[in-house]
Amino acid sequence: LRTLKVALLGCGNVGAQVARILIEDADTLAARAGAKLQLSGIAVRNVHAKRDVDLPQDLFTTDADTLVKDADLVIELMGGIEPARTLILSALRNGACVVTGNKALVAQDGPTLHEEADKAGVQLSYEAAVAGAIPILRPIRDSLAGDRITRVLGIVNGTTNFILDQMDTTGAQFADALAEAQRLGYAEADPTADVEGHDAAAKAAILASLSFHTRFALENVHCEGITSVTAADIAAAKDAGFVIKLLAIAEKLNVADTDTGGGEGVSVRVHPTLLPREHPLAAVHGAFNAVFIEAENAGELMFYGQGAGGTPTASAVLGDLVSAARSLVLGGPGRTETTTGQVAALPIDAA
Ligand code: HSE
Repeated sequence: LRTLKVALLGCGNVGAQVARILIEDADTLAARAGAKLQLSGIAVRNVHAKRDVDLPQDLFTTDADTLVKDADLVIELMGGIEPARTLILSALRNGACVVTGNKALVAQDGPTLHEEADKAGVQLSYEAAVAGAIPILRPIRDSLAGDRITRVLGIVNGTTNFILDQMDTTGAQFADALAEAQRLGYAEADPTADVEGHDAAAKAAILASLSFHTRFALENVHCEGITSVTAADIAAAKDAGFVIKLLAIAEKLNVADTDTGGGEGVSVRVHPTLLPREHPLAAVHGAFNAVFIEAENAGELMFYGQGAGGTPTASAVLGDLVSAARSLVLGGPGRTETTTGQVAALPIDAA
């Protein structure tokens, strides 16, 4: 089997699980990908930092540039705009496929990154950037390519769904529920991004761009978080048969509605929303996410699963990684000089 070198950038909650699975499930992943996926290194700020997962110390480096230059596949899980952006662009220019979970970067610079990937003829994928483990971007991009999506409603932030759900079901205080979400590893490093809706807004921009085949940047998304939702609001909603959820909404507007926001006849927004208790999204509890799609021909679809947390999100990263590895095995340009021995035929379950 050909060996493909995998560089991992970042080793937080998700990165550590990706590294663990790459090592523990190496044989299965090789069979699925048609190539050995060799973790060549993990770039971090501090090589001696304490981590939840026990990983070989010699994998760690602070030299992300060198690691990227020598990789066939690059996984970026550092978050933030820089240095992630520069490292991803350099990987793509070098012919490596890139998998990232960086919603802020994709929402801000998606077109530039895609342009670079197209130029190099390599895959750029970011299933993990929206709704954690839930396969949602590929279904929108591929499975629904022959349909017209009219509306997307998503619970796409686990932290805020956890907080609102705790307040609704146990009467918990906002601060206590947030602390618990942080302890469980759902929240962003700075949880302001969760509770102010910015994390959901980045995901809304990505969902809207793919669903409506046009570009929606973060600044096109109206955004209101959950910090002003009170226990009294939640109780009043409950009495009236509603539940309050933070929803990411992208919907086609009638021409008459264009004064309600958005552009190009599509409104993209994030805000606390009153949902009737019988709506399928009202049954999404804890840190779970769900995306409800309405399409002209398919009708209503719902995708549900764990939207945050190390292991579930790692599942989405590894799915993208195997798909990218297959594209290289099948003859993508890549860094062809790294081929060792004969290129393997794809195994049956990779077809
Ligand atoms: N902080 C995010 C959430 C993590 O709570 O959903 C997944 O993007």
